[in-house]
Amino acid sequence: MVEIKSVQDVDVNGKNVLMRVDFNVPLNEGLVRDDSRIRAALPTIEMLLNGGARLVLASHLGRPGGKYSPDLMMNPIADRLTEILGRTVHKLDTVAGTGLSEAVRRMKDGELLLLENLRFEKGEEENDPDFARRLAEPFDLFVNDAFGTAHRAHASTAGVASYLPAVAGLLMKKEIEELSTCLENPRRPLTAILGGAKVSDKINVIRRFLSLADNLLVGGGMANTFLAAEGYNLGASFYEKNQVEEAKALIRESKNSRCRLVLPIDLAVTRELAPGSYSEVVPPDQIGPEWKAVDIGPETSAIYSVYIEESAMVVWNGPLGVFEVPPFDNGTDVVAQAVAQGSAYSVIGGGDLVAALEALSLSKYIDFVSTGGGATLEFWEGKELPGISVLQKKNS
Ligand code: 3PG
Repeated sequence: MVEIKSVQDVDVNGKNVLMRVDFNVPLNEGLVRDDSRIRAALPTIEMLLNGGARLVLASHLGRPGGKYSPDLMMNPIADRLTEILGRTVHKLDTVAGTGLSEAVRRMKDGELLLLENLRFEKGEEENDPDFARRLAEPFDLFVNDAFGTAHRAHASTAGVASYLPAVAGLLMKKEIEELSTCLENPRRPLTAILGGAKVSDKINVIRRFLSLADNLLVGGGMANTFLAAEGYNLGASFYEKNQVEEAKALIRESKNSRCRLVLPIDLAVTRELAPGSYSEVVPPDQIGPEWKAVDIGPETSAIYSVYIEESAMVVWNGPLGVFEVPPFDNGTDVVAQAVAQGSAYSVIGGGDLVAALEALSLSKYIDFVSTGGGATLEFWEGKELPGISVLQKKNS
């Protein structure tokens, strides 16, 4: 596992600390719709404040592309953080430069500020060294707790580490520990569940779990591509035609691996994808020309539930059907109930699946819910994540 120096290893008393967080949370009419990423950063925030740091939090929100965008200002985040912490969190209107230096100079030990959206500055995503230097200028220490953004080599995730001592926050450390355990020291039998729309997004993760897991259960639009590779005619279903050869290769590879690759044996199909629309359950060889497969069927969810019951560890990324259009959240729901009720240690990742489990009120039964979307996938793929590797290099 990646050994990493963390906030637990440094004295922060009286220090000016820049903490990168991932507060890229969904908003609805200017209000925070899901604050789990904010809550996940609280242990580090509290530890730093209790330790006497002068703490400045920095995050991106959305993809404003280096330009000011009133809809993506950090005000709703400051308001929610104020509610959660029970103390006023002031938001600066600036990201770096004189305004920041002056604000930091005025801070007292144990005080807290939030910067404006980092991505209003062009230099952030370009990892511009001059912007990174200006951002780092008033600080003594950089704490990276933004696991969800660790796959981006941006000024605030990677660049600032060239100018400051840098350590991981508690969330970053926990994410690395939990996600590494799935790869390096899994409890067995290990069952991986992979869903979501596209095989192309997850080829490397599929390969990784084919070589690692005991069972790999497939659902979502991506199962359609595998079924097409098995020669089924999928009617009007979504699948990736240009990935069928890749899916065939993965099926061949699975035959020589320790892992059982399990595909749906029945599917919920509909002619019109709309809430409550008429649907039928059919095996994959009976999908009519106008029908779309939009969820795994009940027999498949029952079989997947048995695999889960017999597992000691379950890792899961991606919903198993079009969960945002009920009743096509059924498959995800039944399988999630099995994970929630089973004794296997469960780890889930990916924004869509986390949102689905939140909507089903089941995420509280999961042992570890990763805050990463793309970052979790890239971690499981075995890619180097710049936000983590700078911390390692810095302290090696
Ligand atoms: C995420 O939500 O996955 C992270 O905050 C990264 O956001 P990005 O994909 O816009 O870089």
